[in-house]
Order: sequence, then C-alpha cells, then structure tokens
Amino acid sequence: MNSVILGTGAYAPDRVLTNADLERMVETSDSWILERTGIRERRIVQSGQACSDLAIEAANRALLAARVSPSDIDVILLATCTGDTPLPATACLVQHRLGAVRAAACDISAACCGFIYALAIGDVYIKSGMKHVLVIGAEVMSAITDWTDRNTCVLFGDGAGAVVLGRSVDESKVLSTHLHANGRISDLIYVPGGGSRDPASDDVLQNKRCFIKMRGNETFKIAVKTMEEATHEALKANGMVPQDIDLFIPHQANVRILRAVSQRLGLSEEKVMINLDRFGNTSAASIPLALDQAIQDGRIKRGNKVVMAAFGAGLTWASAVVQW
Ligand code: UT7
Repeated sequence: MNSVILGTGAYAPDRVLTNADLERMVETSDSWILERTGIRERRIVQSGQACSDLAIEAANRALLAARVSPSDIDVILLATCTGDTPLPATACLVQHRLGAVRAAACDISAACCGFIYALAIGDVYIKSGMKHVLVIGAEVMSAITDWTDRNTCVLFGDGAGAVVLGRSVDESKVLSTHLHANGRISDLIYVPGGGSRDPASDDVLQNKRCFIKMRGNETFKIAVKTMEEATHEALKANGMVPQDIDLFIPHQANVRILRAVSQRLGLSEEKVMINLDRFGNTSAASIPLALDQAIQDGRIKRGNKVVMAAFGAGLTWASAVVQW
C-alpha cells in the first residue's frame, strides 16, 4: 500500500518584518540582504503566538483540502525545533485542539529537514496499515533568533505547512524518500544552551546561548553539495533524469543556494519553487509552505512529478519524490 498526499495547507503570521525594519535593528542594509540571500521580508509571530497556533491553522486547512475529519487521523507528526515548550511534544497540543481524538502524536526534530523526515515516517506508517497521517512542519524561529546578530537574524522567519497522507488508490503517490545525517558537523548550526548539556540559567540567557549560532559560509557550500547529491539519489531511485522533474521544491534557505543547485541540475527557473523572498528561512515549515503555495498557484497538476530536497542542522539532508 502506497501513500498519497490528499491535501495541503499553510499558515504564516500576519506580522511582516521587512529588510527596512532590520536596518533599524542591526547594521545591515536592504541591498545586502537581498543580494546575499534573496529575502525581502519574513513573517514573525505576535507576542503570545506559539508553534502550535501556527501548526493548527495549517493543519485545519490541509484537513479541509483533503476532506478528512480530525477524528480520522491515526497519527500526527509535527516537525519542529521550536515547540511551544520542551515538554510535552507540541504535536499533543495540536492533537487536542484539532479534536483528533484517536491520533497518536509526537514531534520530529530534524531541523530544516524535519518535514521530509516526518513525511518519510508517515509514508512508512501508511505502508504498514494506517489510514491517515497528518504531517506538519511548523516553526517559530524568531524565538531562537538573536536579534542583535546580523549574521543570522536577517535569515529566519515563522510559519507552518501541513499535508494529510492517505492510502493511494491510483498512480498518485509518494514515490520515494531518502534521509541522511552527519553529526560530525553538528556545530555548523546549533543552539548551545537550554538543553541538558547546558540547562537554562541566567548565564545561558546573558551570554545568548539560547539562540541559534551558525557558520554561514561553510553551511552554504555543504548545502549546495548535499542538496544536489540528495536530488540525484532521488532521481536515480526512480529511474528519472532532471528533465523529468515538473517542479523542484528545495528548502528555502538562500536564493543563491537554490540557484546553484538548480543550475547544477540543469533546471530552468520555472521548474523551481521559490518563495523565500516573502517568508525567509522557516526551517521545517519551508517545504510544506512552498508546496501549498505551488498548489494554490496551480503550478502542480495531476501526474506531475514533484521533487523536494532539504538540508539543515545536524547536519541532515533529505529528499522526497511525489507523483501528483
Ligand atoms: O537552513 C539552514 C540554515 N543556514 C543557511 O542556509 C545558511 C547558509 N549560508 C548563507 O546563507 C550565507 O552564508 C549568509 C547569507 C549567512 C552569509 O552570506 P555570505 O555571502 O556567506 O557572507 P559572509 O558570511 O562571507 O560575510 C561577508 C561579509 C562579512 O563581512 P567581512 O568580514 O567581509 O567584513 C560579514 O560580517 O558580510 C558581513 N555580513 C553582513 N553585512 C551586512 C554578514 N551578515 C551581514 C548582514 N548585513 N546581515
């Protein structure tokens, strides 16, 4: 039994933070951010708005599109690194508020690859007999961003996207998923404090160890290499060549990374989904947010082959191929 994406949904908070706003916060400029990253603006939560609030909005939209009722969901997999609280899993809060009374629920922590990791797990659950899996990517990256660090604060945004997986009855299906990790370079992108290694304390807060640290330039090079590799691996597994891709949905990290990967694959611009100019890097939410927009914009039609590829903290990298 194969799995199929029955419906998608997405949600981003209303509050817009532009590059001009950032010019007033750190020493940067609209032109630097636009040229080096491709980002014009990002969405940021209102005070009091948390990961589950975004996840629920996206999930409700995906359930509506899929015509599946919350009580028909068997399991909720929420990919996030910015849950409402360290305990319990934010997926449980979503389960309760959706009224998904029969569903098991847990969070998946794989940073920017989280959505593809969760999709891969959901695919296996359907293959092993479950009927409906709700897969969500939701992040409040603004909560772990140091708003005085210009190296990172211009990059990230908040948002959520979701898909409902069900049983495939025809050619529409998840064709493959491939997941990878290399913990040897875990210090490329990380949050040093606030966990069991360096628990929350005044010192953690004062020295900003509860915020994301990143070696951007090194990450950039590895991102291009791993996303290209992940895509070739996915294509090979399905007997495809780059020209068979109808739409490529890469993790929305930096437009220069996306262009470099697309060029290496020989993909023309119209085959690459890019929305990071409006949302920035929303980590695990980035691919489902872009996927839902592609559907709303009519860029994915029945029979199309959609390839997703991501990289992120861990370091992790991953791909998925879906036939629509
Ligand atoms: O989901 C995975 C998350 N991570 C990523 O995707 C990150 C991937 N990396 C990147 O996107 C890029 O490396 C960055 C956008 C982070 C940085 O771009 P870069 O072209 O690699 O710049 P750089 O780090 O080599 O820095 C160039 C200069 C430096 O100044 P000096 O040392 O040459 O004088 C930085 O201090 O740009 C400076 N700089 C800035 N200037 C204005 C760094 N951030 C800013 C800024 N505004 N916001």
